[in-house]
Order: sequence, then C-alpha cells, then structure tokens
Amino acid sequence: MRVLLGVCGGIAAYKAAELVRALRGAGHEVRCALTRSAESFVTPLTLEVLSTERVYRQEYLQPTETGEELHVELAAWAEAICVVPATAHTIGRLAHGLADDFLTTTVLAFDGPIIVAPAMHSIMWMQPAVQSNAELLRKRGVAIVGPVIGELASGGSGVGRLVDLTVLLDVIERSQGSGELAGLTVLVTAGPTHEAIDPVRFLSNRSSGKMGFALAAEAARRGARSVLVAGPVELPTPAGVERIDVVSAAEMHEAVERRAARADLIIMVAAVGDFRVSSTAHRKLEKSELSGGLSLQQTPDILKGLAESAPGALRVGFAAETENLEAGACRKLEQKDAAFIIANDVSRSDIGFGQNENEVLVFSRDAEPQLIPKASKDAIARSLFDILGPAVLAHGAALSRVAS
Ligand code: C5P
Repeated sequence: MRVLLGVCGGIAAYKAAELVRALRGAGHEVRCALTRSAESFVTPLTLEVLSTERVYRQEYLQPTETGEELHVELAAWAEAICVVPATAHTIGRLAHGLADDFLTTTVLAFDGPIIVAPAMHSIMWMQPAVQSNAELLRKRGVAIVGPVIGELASGGSGVGRLVDLTVLLDVIERSQGSGELAGLTVLVTAGPTHEAIDPVRFLSNRSSGKMGFALAAEAARRGARSVLVAGPVELPTPAGVERIDVVSAAEMHEAVERRAARADLIIMVAAVGDFRVSSTAHRKLEKSELSGGLSLQQTPDILKGLAESAPGALRVGFAAETENLEAGACRKLEQKDAAFIIANDVSRSDIGFGQNENEVLVFSRDAEPQLIPKASKDAIARSLFDILGPAVLAHGAALSRVAS
C-alpha cells in the first residue's frame, strides 16, 4: 500500500524514520512530507534514503509534469496518511482545516483514511484546547492513535509518549481494510450510561463495557471501519477502533444517530439507561429534597429508532435478562425490529455484567436460537462475528440486488 507519512517537529520525529523502515519492510511504499520544524529534528536526507523516495518539504503549490498541483498529486497517490509524531500545533491545524504548509494542504486534498499519532508533554496533551481539537478530528473519522503513558523526553513520565510503532503499523495496515469486512462500517455501543440526578449523583447499571469493546476490536480485526460509542468505562481503546465517549443516554442517542446512516452493521451492546430524572439539579440536592422520590422519564429506545434512521443497516441488539430469556429475546426481536438479539442471563454471577466471560444465545428471525457456550468475551466476540460477518455481507448483497 502507498503511505504518506506527515512528520512534525517533535522529539519523537526520529521514530518516523524507524516507521519508514518498518513500513518498507512490510512491503509498503512510503513517502514523507515534513513540516518546517520537523527538519530541526530529523533530516530530509535520512527519510529520503530510508524511503527511497523524494521527501516533500515546503513545495507549496508547485505545478507538476502532469499539470496537477503537487499536493493534489501526492494526495491522489496516497492510500493512507499517517501524521507521526503529531504535534499540538498540527493537530490544531488539521482540526480547523488550515492549509498553511505543504503537509496540511495535502491532507485537505486527501479523501481517505487519516491516522494521527500524537506525541507531546502530558500537560500539553491534556490541555482542553488540544483535547477538543483531537476530539473534533476523532468525530470526523480520523484515527487518533495514542499517545500512551510512559517516559517522556522532557523527563518524568505521563501520558504523551508516541504509541508503539508496531501498533501504528497495524492501524495503518488495517486502514485499508483487508479482511472479510473490508469496506464496511461497524458501529458498536458499549458500557452503561450515567443519568445525572445532580452534580454528584447519577442512575446507572452494572455494565462494564467489556463485551462491546471486544466486539469493536473484532470488527476492526476483520477489516471493518470500527466505530465504538462508549459509555463511561475505564477500558483502553482497542487497536484500529474509532472511539467516541459519551455519558448519558441522550448523548449516546445523538452519537449513534449521527453515524448510523453510514453503518452497515450496528451492534447495540450498551446497557442504555431506560430512565433519566425529569430534571437534573444544578446543585447537590439535600437528603430532604430526595426523600420524596425521584420523578423519572423514559429515555428513547435507540435501537428501535434505528429502524427508521438506518433502515439499510443490519441491526443487532443485546438483551440482558434475569428470567424468561427466550420470551424476552423474541419480544425484543419484534419490538425493536432487529435482525438478531443476543441474550445473556445476567442473574448468573459467573458470566455477563462485569465478568470476563460470557455465554449467549443468538436469536434471529428465521433460525433456531444458537448457543455460544461459556468462553472469554474475546472468544464470544469471535464466535458472534462468525455469525454476524456473513449475515452483514448477505444483507449488503441483498440490498444492492434490490437497488439495481
Ligand atoms: O429493552 P431492553 O433495554 O432490554 O433492550 C436491550 C437492547 O436495546 C440493547 O441492545 C440496548 O443497547 C438497546 N437499548 C436502546 N435504547 C434504550 C434501551 C435499550 O437502544 N433506551
């Protein structure tokens, strides 16, 4: 594959040279474009020798032999762009669509997968301005990979270190979506939601998010673009997964709706809060104010609503039941107009909520329920994709037959 590395001016720029070698070793073609300050950290000659290609510096808007402008030609050549290391400044420029040098102009002319690997001091990374710029990019489908916790060049340790190059190589290769689900988008929700009562109290449930994270990881492993809408959980983002963090059912609803129309497969694993308090207090309530009880309102059923907003997607729900597993699952298949309901018995202490293992029954409209026996959530995710993968491919094929 053809990879453009955008190298920015940070101490970790020397690692871009290692990444060029790793990519070339894995059989990819690599070109490099440097920001002006990158040249203070790594020489163009180093990257030129390692990539065996010319290095792009500040060749701003130069016409080429074909009459194309250079940035347009390079953008058309690249199959993926990886900005490594990404500085706070370049993350900001990318987030705001600025095109004030060759690299940012090329990124704007590019219509494919963009991977951004930040590296900087922890205080810089944690600045709200940098965080919100990174979040803006994430929301637009840019894969922000890292930074990770570790020793920092400026001394001490913290979050800010460039992600391991093997992880980055993996994400770059996955961006082309080789694998059975290449070219498809899988949207997964995971975790609980928090429905605020006041600034310190909330309503929630025991969902850990582990099952949803395992499914999102498996979707990425199989080559899909994997988008994970995660409720408040402390789990690391799986490799190759685009993660959107939300807190409440309303936020999850909005995040899912915004992405649903472009998804081929939607798996609602999240234990979405069914009720929120009618009006959230802006100050901590006194005990006496709560003793009369809470006034609750039902939250919208996200999965049910997807039948209208994402009719083309294969829609899958989860059902956490404590009794009458089969009856509950069959009712939800109908009520939520889902293709599959994956049911698990959360009254068992050895599986389900919070555990590392699960055992599920897969209900669909036209087949007998299928048991996936007790196994790790990663193994359950693999078995589920053995069922859902072929189903989404068949669903897509059926849709295009109808369209043609
Ligand atoms: O009706 P119940 O909550 O048991 O259904 C569970 C399924 O519905 C899960 O897939 C869950 O993610 C989804 N759900 C939803 N919106 C809600 C509640 C549940 O999408 N408000």
